[in-house]
Amino acid sequence: MPQNVIEKIVQAHAVGLKPGHEVRAGDYVTIVPDHVMTHDNSSAVLGKFKGLGITAIKDPRQPVFTLDHNIQDLGEANQAKYRTLAEFAATHGIDAYPAGRGIGHQIMIEEGYARPGGLCVASDSHSNTYGGVGALGTPVVRTDAAALWATGTVWWQVPPAIKVTLTGRLRPGVTGKDAIITLCGLYNQGEVLNTVIEFTGPGVATLSLEERLTIANMTTEWGALAGWFPVDGVTLAYMEERRAWLASCGIVDRVTEADIAGWRAAPPCSDPDAVYAGEIALDLSQVTPHLSGPDSVQVMASLAELAPQRIRVDKAYLLSCTNARLRDLEEAAAVVRGQKVAPHVKLYVSAASALVEAEAQMTGAWQALLDAGAIALPSGCGPCIGLGTGLLEDGEVGISATNRNFKGRMGSRNAKAYLASPAVVAASALAGHIAGPGDWDLDGGAPARDFRVPAGAGGDGPAVEVLPGFPAVIEGRLLYLPADNLNTDGIYGKDYTYREDMTPAQMAAVVMENYDPQFAGLVRTGDVVCAGFNFGTGSSREQAATALMAAGIRLVIAGSYSQTYLRNAINNGFLCVECPDFARALHAHHAGGGGRKTVIDDEPVSLDVAHSTIRWRGQSFRFLPLGTPVQRIVLAGGVENMVRAGAQ
Ligand code: F3S
Repeated sequence: MPQNVIEKIVQAHAVGLKPGHEVRAGDYVTIVPDHVMTHDNSSAVLGKFKGLGITAIKDPRQPVFTLDHNIQDLGEANQAKYRTLAEFAATHGIDAYPAGRGIGHQIMIEEGYARPGGLCVASDSHSNTYGGVGALGTPVVRTDAAALWATGTVWWQVPPAIKVTLTGRLRPGVTGKDAIITLCGLYNQGEVLNTVIEFTGPGVATLSLEERLTIANMTTEWGALAGWFPVDGVTLAYMEERRAWLASCGIVDRVTEADIAGWRAAPPCSDPDAVYAGEIALDLSQVTPHLSGPDSVQVMASLAELAPQRIRVDKAYLLSCTNARLRDLEEAAAVVRGQKVAPHVKLYVSAASALVEAEAQMTGAWQALLDAGAIALPSGCGPCIGLGTGLLEDGEVGISATNRNFKGRMGSRNAKAYLASPAVVAASALAGHIAGPGDWDLDGGAPARDFRVPAGAGGDGPAVEVLPGFPAVIEGRLLYLPADNLNTDGIYGKDYTYREDMTPAQMAAVVMENYDPQFAGLVRTGDVVCAGFNFGTGSSREQAATALMAAGIRLVIAGSYSQTYLRNAINNGFLCVECPDFARALHAHHAGGGGRKTVIDDEPVSLDVAHSTIRWRGQSFRFLPLGTPVQRIVLAGGVENMVRAGAQ
């Protein structure tokens, strides 16, 4: 059977597969990533690692620490945290990069950790960026990272793949940022949610490495778990640059000439007849300058539409793991050279890494930005995550080369933020309102949607091995929650999240309080909760899973999940099953709930694990097989217990 490139990369990094097993989308697998990057949250991961009672790092070459988020905080508490991490890294022989060295994802790329055909995870959602160099990069949660330090392995469910075929070439003044903003805006109905994106087609060769990194980076905002670009001459030239630079630093084994020769001879690629869950086509020559926002990446508008509105801008940002590499800074510098930022605007610039800043100083781009009035910030995340100098204040409007613009992300919830390419950010800073460089043709067109689900996508998988002790069938009363996007605050309120003293009984008493105050009084031990799509979205809080367990819920069945929720739930040994067809059937049967928040169905639901089938009211619904890695975690009562027992 043909495999796509993601399946092949996972196959090469999987352990414990049955002989002859070919990895497919939907498989639960145990993988050994090349690296696991943690940033400031290394501190939280360290706390979890210590809680496992394990003292040795399984493979000290695997973790990479990068301090990048809160680097402007020079207070003693933060500095003590940074010192602890540096000491821990030194003691265990872990590669660690101090505050000011750069943003973790950029370090992973320029230091050669992310490599063609490799697999790197990070305790951060923008690990998708590594796909720009042909590596599979995907996020994990903190428990995963701690388990990785202890065991070198992590579980993963291989997502379905979407093929995005790029044709044509971007017109002058149109950038990779415009392409990904366009994709996010055109396909904003969940078409790529929780998938992996494989970019392909003749248009790929026309994109610079930096543009590929920007596009891969924002596949996160698009909803995907990874975004992958083919390995071609552009990639190999970049890897050769990395090899030479690393060698000049005395690091000769991270990227070698033999590696590059190997990638050239046999670049990772999909089989010609690989199967995809969906296919999208984008003609790059049809893309025009676009902005996201305000407040949402799902909303896009063309520069041609926004510029005449002269929307006042108070702050402008050239920073982040999205768009602060050398080419980005040069594009912005070319716009501002010889001019001054509007008097009422503050333009903040922070290079993606100290290395990028040094390069920009050599080319003159850095000085051109400073001469125009830009305010330099140390290399790191800063305002992108609402930390340090230069945040948006009440009533202000920001324009930013970053990747996220939801309310409050970059400062006040009463501010607005637009996302744009570096050149548009720079031009807007000069004009004092949203604008493009004067010599642009402000054609405002956008390509038409072109999304297909190929015939033969999906289909039944083989029967599943059910581990001894794992129930072959799970049956229970069905509690239907007729809601999409039921967020973690609805499941377990923020007022309880930071209370350490909540007993399981107390957690059960307040579960779902912010969604349906009646829920706790309705639920019975052994119930099965069924919900709509994107269950568990919002902030990451493990109690949104453990509170349902405390209430006696056997499992959740939803149309889809926030991946952070899903990982937190399974890591805590709480079973979650995804079945879009079942969610749609429930919605139709109960007419969306008829105004009730919790509906008690008078027919039970049963989950046939061995045949990956949900049975309800005489109907059957297939779900992706619950492979043995996830059964093992549930049987152990969670990843931490499994690691403690040495069972992984
Ligand atoms: Fe940092 Fe913003 Fe990227 S917080 S990791 S620069 S998305």
